Amino acid sequence: MNWFISAVSSSVGKKIMMALTGLFLCSFLVVHLIGNLQLLNLDLGLSFNTYANFMSHNPVIQTISKGNFIIIIAHALIALFLTRQNAAARPIGYQVNKGSKNSTWSSRNMGLLGTILLVFIAVHLYHFWWAVHYGGSIPSREYLTDHGDLSSYTDLYQAVWFAFSNPYIVAFYVFSMIAMGYHLYHGFASAFQSLGLNHVKYNFFIRAVGFLFYFVIPALYAYIPLKIYFLTCSSSCSH
Ligand code: HEM
Repeated sequence: MNWFISAVSSSVGKKIMMALTGLFLCSFLVVHLIGNLQLLNLDLGLSFNTYANFMSHNPVIQTISKGNFIIIIAHALIALFLTRQNAAARPIGYQVNKGSKNSTWSSRNMGLLGTILLVFIAVHLYHFWWAVHYGGSIPSREYLTDHGDLSSYTDLYQAVWFAFSNPYIVAFYVFSMIAMGYHLYHGFASAFQSLGLNHVKYNFFIRAVGFLFYFVIPALYAYIPLKIYFLTCSSSCSH
């Protein structure tokens, strides 16, 4: 246990923990996106509500979900400790700081981008996760199963569609996904560097998968509220 505590308290140990927690959260983003894309199926929520019901009742998923919350908090706290440690080690800053010449905008603003994401996650969880698990305000909907009986699921589909008919909520999601894209632009490649895996042999792979994480995935997340907004708007805004 002592080796673990001294590894985590060193600067390199913290960087490795940042990288591992960050990459775990990237894998969460993929699974969460695949589930959320079912929101775009125009099936009165059958596929999305079935998926959400499975996720919130499966004991394995629920255990991973608790771990996920701990990892989000750990990632943010380690980032804070690292920033403070770096600032303390360099009280007068670099003498030559050419800003954009020797670093990208994302790398210089990881703290700001991470804070925007933390605010997004807090608002997002309160909005949906809290409403499902503790709010008790989301009605249920019944579906006819393949076996011919009725199943009743919390109608999270309707709740999300209703939320995304509000242009301010949609703008907040799109803005947050742009911040997530910039955060991952630096964060994804930096994680591989911290793990010592930025070898010339792997760089093409890291760049290609990085593009998926900093562009394709945030764009798909932003597409969901935009698409729902324009679908609900086309049936109600013109009247
Ligand atoms: C279009 C975008 C998104 C939609 C529609 C969406 C939808 C949802 C919904 C409906 C829930 C509640 C599920 C339940 O508890 O049964 C949820 C939970 C959650 N969302 Fe999202 N989400 C989106 C984007 C994101 C992003 C970008 C992040 C992270 C940066 C995120 C992080 C989470 C977390 C951590 C939970 C709690 C999951 C758990 O119970 O383990 N979501 N989301």
